[in-house]
Amino acid sequence: MISIGCDHGGFQLKNVITEYLKSIGQEFKDCGCFDETSVDYPDIAKIVCEDVQSGSAKCGILVCGTGLGMNMCANKYKGIRAAQCSDTFSAKMTRQHNNANVLTLGGRVIGPELAKEIVNEFLTNEFLGGRHETRVNKMMNIQG
Ligand code: RB5
Repeated sequence: MISIGCDHGGFQLKNVITEYLKSIGQEFKDCGCFDETSVDYPDIAKIVCEDVQSGSAKCGILVCGTGLGMNMCANKYKGIRAAQCSDTFSAKMTRQHNNANVLTLGGRVIGPELAKEIVNEFLTNEFLGGRHETRVNKMMNIQG
């Protein structure tokens, strides 16, 4: 199961992505929002990140206008490695090298077809471990 959420700026793109997830048979939990009424993106990021932290979701997807506010919020949660992606190469590499567990997207930045390809790369690539695990462990131990 994956957990997905958005604010009003990401609402339309979240709908595109949930339809895509249905089309590929990927189970998901839709954490809202459910219309374009203005909401605060930190409130939605919290729900999705707690799903990933608890293990009820294997990963999360967060969409806001730019993706950036969602990304900044998500990366404040312990154990969360959120990656902002606007291209497919980054989506693949952040799974393989960074073991990212949350994908953030900008609903006002990328179009629907690119978004679906980015989600596909994020969901189908695995962490490579090895030297990358050493680096991710160092990253997770940073307490600046
Ligand atoms: C909402 O207007 C906008 O600020 C939000 O969707 C997001 O882009 C924040 O980073």
